[in-house]
Amino acid sequence: MNRVYFIGAGPGSPDHLTLQGARCLERCHSVFAVPPYEELFSELLDSKKIFVPFDYYFRDLVDKIDALRREGPVAFLIPGDLTFYSPFQSLIDHFADDAVVVPGIGTANAASAHLKKTLDLPGICNRAVLVSPRTLGNDDNAPTLAQLAAPGATLIIYMNNLPLDELVRQLRQGYSRNVPIAILHRLELPGEEVVTGTLDDIVDKVGDRDFFNLSQENRRPALTLVIVGETLAAEADAAWWDYRRDHIWRAREGRG
Ligand SMILES: C[S@@+](CC[C@H](N)C(=O)[O-])C[C@H]1O[C@@H](n2cnc3c(N)ncnc32)[C@H](O)[C@@H]1O
Repeated sequence: MNRVYFIGAGPGSPDHLTLQGARCLERCHSVFAVPPYEELFSELLDSKKIFVPFDYYFRDLVDKIDALRREGPVAFLIPGDLTFYSPFQSLIDHFADDAVVVPGIGTANAASAHLKKTLDLPGICNRAVLVSPRTLGNDDNAPTLAQLAAPGATLIIYMNNLPLDELVRQLRQGYSRNVPIAILHRLELPGEEVVTGTLDDIVDKVGDRDFFNLSQENRRPALTLVIVGETLAAEADAAWWDYRRDHIWRAREGRG
């Protein structure tokens, strides 16, 4: 039987499909794509059969894929890629050895590139936490954003469902001071907007823009990523370059 390819498609631009992803996609005659990926990738999907995965219940979807893969390999375009907050794991588990996962550029990677900032920085930030307030849980022992936010930690917040002032309140509690924050809305998509600021001024800077779909009847997670932490406004200390040259890179040359 033909295989099912789960291809990391990136945040939206077909330019961020990997070469491996493009080769796999080309081979597949049937493609499952979440809107708006069928539009964004329309040039690459020309003459292929396109399906929306969430039109089907799981069992019907599996039957549909099995029918399609009798004719040829089948592709799924995964928003970003599988690594974080991807709903495709149950399908990948189901198809097991017949599933092929192709890595791609996640939204966090594209956000880092857009901001021109690495999300950890020696001497400034020693860890990064990927988190979504939607998935932390509601029980008494569930971690809170206030507990995860701390000096030296960058938080990369997916699928935020908190009003911005409440999000800022919790972050301020964790950092216990003003730190830089970036809100990246619809990266690589029509309507892209990026607002940068600090916990002190971000609410005013955003104003009445509903970046998190909170005033919509359908509160589907918005395509908005929040990044917060000192690294966003820090300047890298060039002394680290020389330190690495002396202690890491030159030491390696010596061994060679
Ligand atoms: C279900 S998760 C998918 C994440 C994806 N697997 C990845 O690798 O980036 C959806 C969330 O990812 C973020 N996201 C996805 N695409 C985005 C985009 N183009 N711009 C900004 N954020 C995006 C938003 O936080 C959104 O609520």
